[in-house]
Amino acid sequence: MGDVINNLPESIRNLTEGKPFETNDFGKSGSLVRVYDDYVLKIEKECPKIAQMVDVMRWLEGKLPVPKILATEVKDGYRYLLMSKVQGRMACDEYYMNRPEELTTLLAEALRMLWSIDISNCPKTFDLSAELEEAKYRVEHNLVDLDDMEPETFGEGGFKNPQELLQWLYDHQPVPEPVFSHGDFCLPNVFFENGKVSGFIDLGDAGIADRWYDIALGYRSLKHNADGTYGKTYEGVNPDELFAKLGIEPDWEKIRYYILLDELF
Ligand SMILES: Nc1ncnc2c1ncn2[C@@H]1O[C@H](COP(=O)(O)OP(=O)(O)O)[C@@H](O)[C@H]1O
Ligand SMILES: [Mg+2]
Repeated sequence: MGDVINNLPESIRNLTEGKPFETNDFGKSGSLVRVYDDYVLKIEKECPKIAQMVDVMRWLEGKLPVPKILATEVKDGYRYLLMSKVQGRMACDEYYMNRPEELTTLLAEALRMLWSIDISNCPKTFDLSAELEEAKYRVEHNLVDLDDMEPETFGEGGFKNPQELLQWLYDHQPVPEPVFSHGDFCLPNVFFENGKVSGFIDLGDAGIADRWYDIALGYRSLKHNADGTYGKTYEGVNPDELFAKLGIEPDWEKIRYYILLDELF
């Protein structure tokens, strides 16, 4: 992405030139993120989804702690988004992983903040049929990464292959319970500071969706950040605590459905 970074659009260049930054390689989405002292520049391939994300981020201002858009432009097929920097630490920071009580309390609080948003004028809605169509395309064109799967998905007692999983997803579509959904509610996308939720980032999939979509991805992320999937193990973290903190019984069918759907992306 060298050209992309050396060829910044003028509005972005004017605001960032000469300022020190660090390049963040935390995400796995193929985007480029530069973290400056007070703001963050994210560059990724422009597509309808990203264009809509900009609308959703603007709509969220004042409703939820999200980065404020300072400048954004599309140039040569890339979206440049300069936004304010969220303060605090990611939920997966060692600090919180070593404080499971505070971590699960704040994650539950983050979900409640999302669910409290009035969705009547939300500019985007998650469309399960469209997701399944995209999943179908990915399966048919061998774009599914079989090395990045939950062990049980295609393991013993699991699905034979992605085609069989896809058919199962078509046949078991849950009835949604619509709320405002982050869409990628994993620990690195939620920030905490001083006992509060300080921000939500990476909003490309945010919009109206089933309440259980974020619960499913949040539960899986909490589990994987604790069980050694990313290197470290935190024995004190019990992902089931999330349901206790939310005061709800887990709907394992829906949780499983959305985790399985995500396997094909
Ligand atoms: N506005 C922001 N404020 C603070 N940190 C950010 C911000 N945007 C991105 N980051 C940092 O960069 C990482 C990757 O950014 P993200 O938007 O999540 O990209 P990806 O799509 O690659 O996951 C985040 O996990 C976070 O550490
Ligand atoms: Mg991210």
